[in-house]
Amino acid sequence: GVMRELTGIDKKEDGLAKKYSIKEVIIVSGNSDVSPWVKAELGKECAACIKRNLSGENIIAVTGGSTLAAVADMLTPDSRKTLFVPARGGLGEEMENQANVIAANMAANMNSSYRVLYVPEQVSKEAYLSFMKEPAIKEVISLIKTANIVVHGIGDATVMAGRRKSSPEIMMKIKDGNAVGEAFGYYFNEKPEIVHKVHTVGIQKEDLDHADSVIAVAGGSSKAKAIRAYLKMAPSATTLITDESVANELLKG
Ligand code: G3H
Repeated sequence: GVMRELTGIDKKEDGLAKKYSIKEVIIVSGNSDVSPWVKAELGKECAACIKRNLSGENIIAVTGGSTLAAVADMLTPDSRKTLFVPARGGLGEEMENQANVIAANMAANMNSSYRVLYVPEQVSKEAYLSFMKEPAIKEVISLIKTANIVVHGIGDATVMAGRRKSSPEIMMKIKDGNAVGEAFGYYFNEKPEIVHKVHTVGIQKEDLDHADSVIAVAGGSSKAKAIRAYLKMAPSATTLITDESVANELLKG
């Protein structure tokens, strides 16, 4: 529209998509760190983006976090066949931020279905391996790996490790490796190198290359470093949905 052209947002979106060799960038105005309604706007744009990318039959893998929760709030009923699955097993989040809960809420709002991944986090290696042999768990894992759409958040590394009550050893690993960002359980530095990966099942970084659409949704100036580092390794099928505070930082560096 006219407003978007006048404010130069369209140009910034195209400029960023080219700069990071990704499919598309969508920018909402403001800074979600200072204005809570900006997160709702990110959610609204992401919900619309999901709808644009739907095929006749869909498997959508989603991560957790407050931004993904805002996306869930904005989804509306749809007649196309869709199954929501959590992208990866437990990452140590509080209930409202867990991927299982978000997948269920998205399905409820879109009139579609969901599956959950019940994989306990604090178990011995032996117990973990026998869980992996359970047919029900194996089935959900294979569904996750064939997702045509992946929707994920991006977080600041230290914030995420703190929120997930990571052990002092993991905190140290993240600090020593100069991690700046986190996405679906992978912690990475500015290079970017993966400095830590949460030990759980589900989507692995390589699996993203097989998805038709990967939608990354994250805003707030405190996440600019994390988002920049992530974009350097993002698959080319990525759509980034972010806010202006981040977009302006990304255009600088
Ligand atoms: O992986 C990234 C985090 O899930 C982002 O969480 O949306 O609450 O900032 P957030």
